[in-house]
Amino acid sequence: MSAAPWLVVPAAGQGRRMGGDRPKQYLEIAGRPVLAHTLARLHAAFPAARLCLCLDPEDARFDPAWVPFAEWRRVPGGVERVDSVTQALEAIALEAADDDLVLVHDVARPCVTVADLMRLHAALADDPVGGLLAAPVADTMKRDDGDGRVAATEPRTGLWHALTPQGFRFGLLRRALATAREAGVVVTDEASAVEALGLRPRLVSGRRDNLKITHPEDLALAGQILAAQGQAAQIPSGSTSGETASAPAGAGAMER
Ligand code: C5P
Repeated sequence: MSAAPWLVVPAAGQGRRMGGDRPKQYLEIAGRPVLAHTLARLHAAFPAARLCLCLDPEDARFDPAWVPFAEWRRVPGGVERVDSVTQALEAIALEAADDDLVLVHDVARPCVTVADLMRLHAALADDPVGGLLAAPVADTMKRDDGDGRVAATEPRTGLWHALTPQGFRFGLLRRALATAREAGVVVTDEASAVEALGLRPRLVSGRRDNLKITHPEDLALAGQILAAQGQAAQIPSGSTSGETASAPAGAGAMER
Protein backbone atom coordinates (compact mmCIF):
# COMPACT_ATOMS: atom_id res chain seq x y z
CA MET A 1 0.00 0.00 0.00
CA SER A 2 1.51 3.31 -0.95
CA ALA A 3 -1.14 5.89 -0.04
CA ALA A 4 -0.64 7.46 3.37
CA PRO A 5 -3.48 6.63 5.76
CA TRP A 6 -5.70 9.04 7.59
CA LEU A 7 -4.87 9.08 11.29
CA VAL A 8 -7.53 9.66 13.95
CA VAL A 9 -6.15 10.18 17.45
CA PRO A 10 -8.82 10.42 20.15
CA ALA A 11 -7.31 12.61 22.86
CA ALA A 12 -10.39 14.14 24.45
CA GLY A 13 -10.53 11.90 27.51
CA GLN A 14 -10.15 13.12 31.08
CA GLY A 15 -8.22 10.05 32.26
CA ARG A 16 -10.00 9.94 35.62
CA ARG A 17 -8.56 6.52 36.51
CA MET A 18 -5.11 8.14 36.58
CA GLY A 19 -6.24 10.52 39.32
CA GLY A 20 -3.65 13.14 38.28
CA ASP A 21 -3.92 16.92 38.18
CA ARG A 22 -4.35 16.86 34.39
CA PRO A 23 -5.59 14.52 31.66
CA LYS A 24 -3.13 11.68 31.14
CA GLN A 25 -2.13 12.83 27.65
CA TYR A 26 -0.49 15.84 29.31
CA LEU A 27 1.48 13.92 31.92
CA GLU A 28 5.17 14.01 31.08
CA ILE A 29 7.68 11.35 30.14
CA ALA A 30 11.28 12.51 29.72
CA GLY A 31 10.12 16.13 29.75
CA ARG A 32 7.53 15.73 26.99
CA PRO A 33 3.79 15.11 27.28
CA VAL A 34 2.46 11.68 26.41
CA LEU A 35 0.59 13.26 23.50
CA ALA A 36 3.85 14.49 21.91
CA HIS A 37 5.47 11.05 22.22
CA THR A 38 2.48 9.35 20.62
CA LEU A 39 2.30 11.78 17.71
CA ALA A 40 6.07 11.45 17.15
CA ARG A 41 5.74 7.66 16.83
CA LEU A 42 2.87 7.96 14.37
CA HIS A 43 4.72 10.57 12.33
CA ALA A 44 7.85 8.43 12.17
CA ALA A 45 5.85 5.65 10.55
CA PHE A 46 3.52 7.77 8.41
CA PRO A 47 5.08 11.20 7.78
CA ALA A 48 2.65 11.99 4.96
CA ALA A 49 -0.50 10.97 6.84
CA ARG A 50 -3.34 13.42 7.46
CA LEU A 51 -4.13 13.71 11.15
CA CYS A 52 -7.40 14.36 12.98
CA LEU A 53 -6.70 15.07 16.62
CA CYS A 54 -9.79 14.89 18.86
CA LEU A 55 -9.47 17.30 21.77
CA ASP A 56 -11.83 18.51 24.45
CA PRO A 57 -13.16 21.87 23.20
CA GLU A 58 -12.24 23.32 26.62
CA ASP A 59 -8.69 21.95 26.47
CA ALA A 60 -6.31 24.83 27.18
CA ARG A 61 -3.16 22.74 27.68
CA PHE A 62 -2.75 21.67 24.08
CA ASP A 63 0.21 23.15 22.20
CA PRO A 64 0.23 22.83 18.39
CA ALA A 65 4.04 22.68 18.53
CA TRP A 66 3.63 19.05 19.59
CA VAL A 67 2.10 18.14 16.24
CA PRO A 68 4.76 17.03 13.74
CA PHE A 69 2.38 16.51 10.80
CA ALA A 70 2.22 18.98 7.93
CA GLU A 71 -1.50 18.37 7.44
CA TRP A 72 -3.64 18.09 10.53
CA ARG A 73 -6.79 19.40 12.10
CA ARG A 74 -8.22 19.72 15.58
CA VAL A 75 -11.65 18.12 16.02
CA PRO A 76 -13.85 18.61 19.10
CA GLY A 77 -14.11 15.42 21.11
CA GLY A 78 -17.41 13.90 22.16
CA VAL A 79 -18.83 12.47 25.37
CA GLU A 80 -17.35 9.00 24.86
CA ARG A 81 -14.35 7.80 22.85
CA VAL A 82 -16.64 6.53 20.10
CA ASP A 83 -18.23 9.98 19.83
CA SER A 84 -14.80 11.56 19.40
CA VAL A 85 -13.91 9.12 16.62
CA THR A 86 -17.28 9.64 14.95
CA GLN A 87 -16.79 13.39 14.97
CA ALA A 88 -13.35 12.98 13.41
CA LEU A 89 -14.83 10.91 10.59
CA GLU A 90 -17.52 13.52 9.99
CA ALA A 91 -14.84 16.21 9.89
CA ILE A 92 -13.07 14.50 6.97
CA ALA A 93 -16.17 13.20 5.20
CA LEU A 94 -15.97 15.71 2.35
CA GLU A 95 -12.36 14.77 1.57
CA ALA A 96 -12.01 11.09 2.40
CA ALA A 97 -12.86 8.46 -0.19
CA ASP A 98 -14.82 5.42 0.96
CA ASP A 99 -11.83 3.12 0.44
CA ASP A 100 -9.28 5.35 2.17
CA LEU A 101 -7.64 3.62 5.12
CA VAL A 102 -8.24 5.26 8.51
CA LEU A 103 -6.03 4.24 11.44
CA VAL A 104 -7.40 5.10 14.88
CA HIS A 105 -4.84 5.23 17.69
CA ASP A 106 -5.36 6.10 21.36
CA VAL A 107 -3.25 9.05 22.46
CA ALA A 108 -2.55 7.12 25.66
CA ARG A 109 -0.42 4.53 23.79
CA PRO A 110 2.93 6.28 23.27
CA CYS A 111 4.93 3.03 23.17
CA VAL A 112 3.62 1.71 19.87
CA THR A 113 6.63 0.98 17.68
CA VAL A 114 7.24 2.10 14.13
CA ALA A 115 7.71 -1.55 13.20
CA ASP A 116 4.26 -2.50 14.53
CA LEU A 117 2.65 0.49 12.84
CA MET A 118 4.16 -0.44 9.50
CA ARG A 119 3.31 -4.11 9.91
CA LEU A 120 -0.33 -3.27 10.59
CA HIS A 121 -0.43 -0.95 7.60
CA ALA A 122 1.04 -3.63 5.33
CA ALA A 123 -1.30 -6.32 6.68
CA LEU A 124 -4.35 -4.20 5.93
CA ALA A 125 -3.24 -3.19 2.43
CA ASP A 126 -5.48 -5.71 0.68
CA ASP A 127 -7.74 -6.74 3.52
CA PRO A 128 -11.41 -6.32 2.65
CA VAL A 129 -12.46 -5.83 6.28
CA GLY A 130 -9.59 -4.14 8.13
CA GLY A 131 -8.08 -5.04 11.47
CA LEU A 132 -6.18 -4.16 14.59
CA LEU A 133 -2.98 -4.68 16.51
CA ALA A 134 -3.63 -7.28 19.20
CA ALA A 135 -1.70 -9.44 21.65
CA PRO A 136 -2.62 -12.97 22.75
CA VAL A 137 -3.71 -13.24 26.38
CA ALA A 138 -0.92 -14.75 28.48
CA ASP A 139 -2.43 -14.88 31.97
CA THR A 140 -5.03 -17.29 33.28
CA MET A 141 -8.34 -15.45 33.15
CA LYS A 142 -10.74 -15.31 36.12
CA ARG A 143 -14.33 -14.12 36.21
CA ASP A 144 -15.42 -12.61 39.53
CA ASP A 145 -18.69 -13.25 41.30
CA GLY A 146 -19.30 -9.55 41.93
CA ASP A 147 -18.23 -9.99 45.54
CA GLY A 148 -14.46 -10.20 45.25
CA ARG A 149 -14.27 -13.95 44.73
CA VAL A 150 -13.65 -16.16 41.74
CA ALA A 151 -16.77 -17.46 40.09
CA ALA A 152 -15.03 -19.18 37.18
CA THR A 153 -11.78 -19.66 35.29
CA GLU A 154 -12.29 -18.69 31.69
CA PRO A 155 -10.44 -20.55 28.94
CA ARG A 156 -7.89 -18.16 27.46
CA THR A 157 -7.46 -20.08 24.21
CA GLY A 158 -8.20 -17.74 21.36
CA LEU A 159 -8.39 -14.62 23.56
CA TRP A 160 -6.51 -11.48 22.54
CA HIS A 161 -5.99 -8.04 24.01
CA ALA A 162 -7.30 -5.46 21.54
CA LEU A 163 -4.67 -2.74 21.08
CA THR A 164 -4.49 0.24 18.75
CA PRO A 165 -4.10 1.33 16.02
CA GLN A 166 -7.22 -0.18 14.51
CA GLY A 167 -7.56 0.36 10.79
CA PHE A 168 -10.61 0.27 8.53
CA ARG A 169 -11.75 1.80 5.26
CA PHE A 170 -13.41 5.15 5.80
CA GLY A 171 -16.79 4.17 4.33
CA LEU A 172 -17.03 0.92 6.26
CA LEU A 173 -15.98 2.45 9.57
CA ARG A 174 -18.40 5.35 9.24
CA ARG A 175 -21.23 2.97 8.44
CA ALA A 176 -20.28 0.63 11.29
CA LEU A 177 -20.22 3.40 13.89
CA ALA A 178 -23.53 4.84 12.66
CA THR A 179 -25.18 1.41 12.67
CA ALA A 180 -23.89 0.64 16.17
CA ARG A 181 -25.20 3.95 17.45
CA GLU A 182 -28.67 3.33 15.97
CA ALA A 183 -28.74 -0.21 17.40
CA GLY A 184 -27.51 0.88 20.83
CA VAL A 185 -24.42 -1.36 20.60
CA VAL A 186 -21.78 -0.42 23.16
CA VAL A 187 -18.62 0.38 21.22
CA THR A 188 -15.30 0.56 23.06
CA ASP A 189 -13.17 0.15 19.96
CA GLU A 190 -13.64 0.44 16.21
CA ALA A 191 -13.40 -3.32 15.69
CA SER A 192 -16.44 -4.01 17.87
CA ALA A 193 -18.56 -1.75 15.65
CA VAL A 194 -17.32 -3.56 12.54
CA GLU A 195 -17.95 -6.94 14.22
CA ALA A 196 -21.54 -5.86 14.89
CA LEU A 197 -21.99 -5.73 11.10
CA GLY A 198 -21.14 -9.44 11.01
CA LEU A 199 -17.58 -8.91 9.73
CA ARG A 200 -14.35 -10.33 11.17
CA PRO A 201 -11.50 -7.82 11.56
CA ARG A 202 -7.97 -9.19 11.08
CA LEU A 203 -5.88 -9.70 14.23
CA VAL A 204 -2.33 -8.47 13.61
CA SER A 205 0.02 -9.64 16.34
CA GLY A 206 1.60 -6.65 18.06
CA ARG A 207 4.04 -6.05 20.88
CA ARG A 208 2.77 -6.48 24.41
CA ASP A 209 4.54 -3.31 25.50
CA ASN A 210 2.09 -1.16 23.50
CA LEU A 211 0.38 -0.40 26.78
CA LYS A 212 -2.42 2.09 27.29
CA ILE A 213 -1.56 4.45 30.11
CA THR A 214 -4.56 4.05 32.39
CA HIS A 215 -3.49 3.69 36.03
CA PRO A 216 -0.89 5.78 37.93
CA GLU A 217 1.80 3.08 37.79
CA ASP A 218 1.53 2.94 33.99
CA LEU A 219 3.26 6.29 33.47
CA ALA A 220 6.61 5.17 34.90
CA LEU A 221 6.28 1.88 33.05
CA ALA A 222 5.69 3.68 29.76
CA GLY A 223 8.76 5.81 30.43
CA GLN A 224 10.86 2.70 31.00
CA ILE A 225 9.52 1.08 27.84
CA LEU A 226 10.29 4.16 25.75
CA ALA A 227 13.79 4.32 27.24
CA ALA A 228 14.36 0.60 26.57
CA GLN A 229 13.22 1.13 23.01
CA GLY A 230 15.90 3.81 22.75
CA GLN A 231 13.49 6.53 21.81
CA ALA A 232 12.55 8.82 24.65
CA ALA A 233 15.88 10.61 24.84
CA GLN A 234 15.89 11.11 21.09
CA ILE A 235 12.83 13.35 20.97
CA PRO A 236 14.20 16.84 21.53
CA SER A 237 11.83 19.50 22.76
CA GLY A 238 10.08 21.22 19.88
CA SER A 239 11.33 18.66 17.37
CA THR A 240 8.97 17.34 14.75
CA SER A 241 10.23 13.81 15.25
CA GLY A 242 13.16 12.05 16.84
CA GLU A 243 12.57 8.84 14.96
CA THR A 244 13.02 7.39 11.55
CA ALA A 245 10.99 4.70 9.89
CA SER A 246 13.89 2.27 10.22
CA ALA A 247 13.97 -0.07 13.20
CA PRO A 248 14.63 2.04 16.29
CA ALA A 249 17.87 1.49 18.16
CA GLY A 250 17.44 -1.16 20.79
CA ALA A 251 14.12 -2.32 19.42
CA GLY A 252 15.45 -5.39 17.67
CA ALA A 253 16.01 -7.37 20.85
CA MET A 254 12.44 -6.72 21.94
CA GLU A 255 10.80 -7.45 18.62
CA ARG A 256 8.34 -10.30 18.61
O1 C5P B 1 -10.15 6.48 28.97
P1 C5P B 1 -9.55 5.56 27.93
O2 C5P B 1 -8.11 5.27 28.16
O3 C5P B 1 -10.33 4.33 27.67
O4 C5P B 1 -9.60 6.41 26.58
C1 C5P B 1 -9.09 5.88 25.38
C2 C5P B 1 -8.76 7.00 24.42
O5 C5P B 1 -9.94 7.69 24.02
C3 C5P B 1 -7.84 8.05 25.01
O6 C5P B 1 -6.90 8.37 23.99
C4 C5P B 1 -8.76 9.20 25.32
O7 C5P B 1 -8.15 10.48 25.29
C5 C5P B 1 -9.79 9.07 24.23
N1 C5P B 1 -11.12 9.64 24.56
C6 C5P B 1 -11.67 10.62 23.72
N2 C5P B 1 -12.91 11.14 24.00
C7 C5P B 1 -13.60 10.74 25.08
C8 C5P B 1 -13.07 9.74 25.94
C9 C5P B 1 -11.82 9.20 25.63
O8 C5P B 1 -11.05 11.02 22.74
N3 C5P B 1 -14.77 11.29 25.33
